[in-house]
Amino acid sequence: MERLHIANLPTPIQKLDHLGEELGVNLYLKRDDFTGTEVSGNKVRKLEFSVQDALQKGCDTLITAGGIQSNHCRATAAVAAKLGLGCDLVIRGEIPTRFEGNLFMDKALGARVHLIPLEESREEKMDAIVKNLKGQGYKPYVIPVGASNAVGSLGYAAAMEEISRQESSLGIHFDEIVIAVGSGGTYAGLWYANQKQGAHRKIHGFAVDHNTEVFVEIITEILNEMYDNAGLRAPKEYNDILINDQYIGDGYAKSRPDELAFIMKIARENGFLLDPVYTGKAFYGLVSEIQKGSFKDAKNILFIHTGGLQGWTHAQREMALKML
Ligand SMILES: Cc1ncc(COP(=O)(O)O)c(C=O)c1O
Repeated sequence: MERLHIANLPTPIQKLDHLGEELGVNLYLKRDDFTGTEVSGNKVRKLEFSVQDALQKGCDTLITAGGIQSNHCRATAAVAAKLGLGCDLVIRGEIPTRFEGNLFMDKALGARVHLIPLEESREEKMDAIVKNLKGQGYKPYVIPVGASNAVGSLGYAAAMEEISRQESSLGIHFDEIVIAVGSGGTYAGLWYANQKQGAHRKIHGFAVDHNTEVFVEIITEILNEMYDNAGLRAPKEYNDILINDQYIGDGYAKSRPDELAFIMKIARENGFLLDPVYTGKAFYGLVSEIQKGSFKDAKNILFIHTGGLQGWTHAQREMALKML
């Protein structure tokens, strides 16, 4: 499938010498937080496919949804502004007192922000916006939450191909790839390409909201659709979808002091910053599991930093500073 070229690719892979030595493993970091500034993180890789689809269908307005600090909404707003498309964002959560982080950027990038409370349905709101836009003669294109469908997930199938090329030039094979899982599309794309390549890497996802069962179901559904779209036969069973749901902590986008203390320690000792909602929890999970011995047979572990730094809220920053 055709794609747009908006992200800064390929993103570099860096060896975490200091931390790897401390943990007794070969640990690498793929900097998908370097894909851009406004479009930073994993979402732009998915949008390269979703927005291409929108353009091919002659659409002129992107509609999507997410939480208050949605990285996906911010990246969609940036892509829309870059391409001269309209953008409507349905943002659900506790109505904030500050327009900070991603929410500020959504506005700065010209998106129309529709804030709705937690009890309202994002899908119903998006449907109403679509109806209204169509009534005015626009051609809207709906991107699901996180662009996590069969089209968007192709962005991470392409990322896995990029990783393969980097493996060849670095002369190593990553037998374990680790990411945060929020809506499942990043995981599905990596899993799909890994399977197609017959590369037998283990893909580990650390859930940041739903439990393992729910994510296996979501990811299976995306994968089935990806195989279907490609005219390929889907595997009978997906028994190697590995989702760990033990590091969600207090819930989606909620931070515990130990998680923030971990992020601050990693930053000071290794020179890179994680976000509190996705990568901070997933990397905390990975390091804890390495310490417990769960990765003792791993030769080379690759953690993908999927961005999200724009999502640090005032409250999380204040709490993190107390951990110093
Ligand atoms: C920074 C960041 N990392 C990871 C994820 C998880 O990706 P996915 O939604 O494809 O599971 C997201 C979005 O949910 C994100 O914004």
